[in-house]
Amino acid sequence: MIEHELKITFCTAPLSEWEKPYQLLYEEAVAAASKAYAPYSHFQVGAAVLLANGEMVSASNQENAAYPSGLCAERVALFYAGAKYPEVAVTAIAIVAFSNGKIVEGISPCGGCRQVMLETEKRAGAPVKVFLCGSTSMLLINCASDLLPICFDGCDL
Ligand code: THU
Repeated sequence: MIEHELKITFCTAPLSEWEKPYQLLYEEAVAAASKAYAPYSHFQVGAAVLLANGEMVSASNQENAAYPSGLCAERVALFYAGAKYPEVAVTAIAIVAFSNGKIVEGISPCGGCRQVMLETEKRAGAPVKVFLCGSTSMLLINCASDLLPICFDGCDL
């Protein structure tokens, strides 16, 4: 038997220490969360996507009375970016969540969103930085594939 080890590195820093475009991405994600349609969970999520052309697109979670028909903020934003700018790479995504009016510290994307981030990364052939937003700081994971090791992707088909 061979034991293998997986290792990822990530960075954390106060909001003010990140470069301006990433601070703007944070603000865009927060603004998007305020537009969430989350009447069932009352958990409001915002995701803002930065594209290689400098554009930003953002979205929020969209729930449905038939629960599985709803969609997470990250996927709404990434699918929108892919539909609107099919030829442009996504370079970063910022994710924020609010519960009871307060930012959730340590928000982390669900498995389905990780899978879609991974596809976004593979589609462009370039890493997607993932910013997890807290109330006064952000945590950066360098690429989506770090969030989903030993993944299923197009190469498996
Ligand atoms: N949600 C997201 O928008 N992103 C995630 O990564 C996790 C969960 C949404 C889905 C649902 O509307 C609510 O949060 C509670 O799960």
